[in-house]
Amino acid sequence: MSRQQLVHKVKTIISMTLGGGVVFTALNIYKGSEKFYDDVLIPLTHSILGPEKAHEAVVFINKYRLLPRSHYKDPEILNSKFLNLQVPNPVGIAAGFDKHGESVLGLTDIGFGFVEIGSITPKPQEGNPKPRVFRLPEDSAVINRYGFNSDGHDKVLERIEKLRNSDKFDGILGINLGKNKESDNPIDDYIQGIQKFGKYASYFVINVSSPNTPGLRTLQNEENLKVLLPAVISARNQLDVENKPPILLKLAPDLSQEERKSVASILKKRDCRIDGLIISNTTIARNDLKSIHYKNETGGLSGRPLKEKSTQMIKEMYQLTNGQIPIIGAGGIFTGHDAYEKIRAGASLIQIYTSFIYHGPPRITRIKEELQQLLEFDGFENISQVVGIDAKK
Ligand SMILES: Cc1cc2nc3c(=O)[nH]c(=O)nc-3n(C[C@H](O)[C@H](O)[C@H](O)COP(=O)(O)O)c2cc1C
Repeated sequence: MSRQQLVHKVKTIISMTLGGGVVFTALNIYKGSEKFYDDVLIPLTHSILGPEKAHEAVVFINKYRLLPRSHYKDPEILNSKFLNLQVPNPVGIAAGFDKHGESVLGLTDIGFGFVEIGSITPKPQEGNPKPRVFRLPEDSAVINRYGFNSDGHDKVLERIEKLRNSDKFDGILGINLGKNKESDNPIDDYIQGIQKFGKYASYFVINVSSPNTPGLRTLQNEENLKVLLPAVISARNQLDVENKPPILLKLAPDLSQEERKSVASILKKRDCRIDGLIISNTTIARNDLKSIHYKNETGGLSGRPLKEKSTQMIKEMYQLTNGQIPIIGAGGIFTGHDAYEKIRAGASLIQIYTSFIYHGPPRITRIKEELQQLLEFDGFENISQVVGIDAKK
């Protein structure tokens, strides 16, 4: 064989291998193959890209809707009404993934029943210095201290206005509001958010539980909540829009029993009666972690180690509020069974973030399918029938 023929042959083999690889990858992504994501794509991505770069890449992919639509059609058993919203399925993407409202359509395509964007701060801000996100794969966990990196209200509003006016999106969009690090009037930061996004939000989240903005969590104190809650409720009530969005308060899993009781009693006051809770944000606790790397990094821990803690808190808050305040549950949900536990503890809907980092879009379908099976197996006709069942025992 001449040298030229050899070069030609090698080139052909390389291009066929590469071509085959591309076809194989495309086919598996199209099929939404869990095995391909878990064994090939995610390990490869995680070995090449650090956590923040990988996050940016996945936001980009969803921004340009590069992933196929989910093949799973949401069954009626998973449809439910949450406040004034008709929700196609109970699995949402938690705040902090699409911080700037860039990839709402893409996230809806891949099967999320609702999308929460943010946290958004009034003025743009950079957040904490990098590195600020760390993977702890041995614990199926993440530690982040992003510190509210945000494009700011105006830029995000522009995107959301465009989206809502495009008639491409009539889904459920939660707007999670934060405060600027240097703000001297945090309450006003939340009010500004309500006024700006009032026309477009399906619901608002007042995030007072991120551990990465100094002083933020003190807004969960009784004295502060008594001022904050009436102020945001009043701002919402004054909105000149047809459907006034409900307001949810997002809580930290690190609140003591006393603090939980105190929050619950405040929520019973007439002028503090917000519409719902999100339980929970990340934890600052570091109990029984297997990981050697990064476990002592400052920030909020999410994922599997948070699971029991947040489920327990959902149950407690459901009981303390007599099941009167709807809850969205988040924290370490990796399977349909985890979601089922949260719902039985008192959550009407659930959100995921860390399991999405480790398993990608097929995990959304898996959670929905398993949840459907569990409900059917236990003889229920609709998901709303199991909300809080375990908290009533
Ligand atoms: C990288 C990262 C960034 C986050 N950023 C926010 C945020 O900006 N606002 C917020 O309310 N929660 C934020 N969270 C918390 C999640 O919304 C969620 O409450 C928490 O991670 C628990 O769910 P999980 O165990 O499924 O991740 C963030 C979580 C992670 C992992």
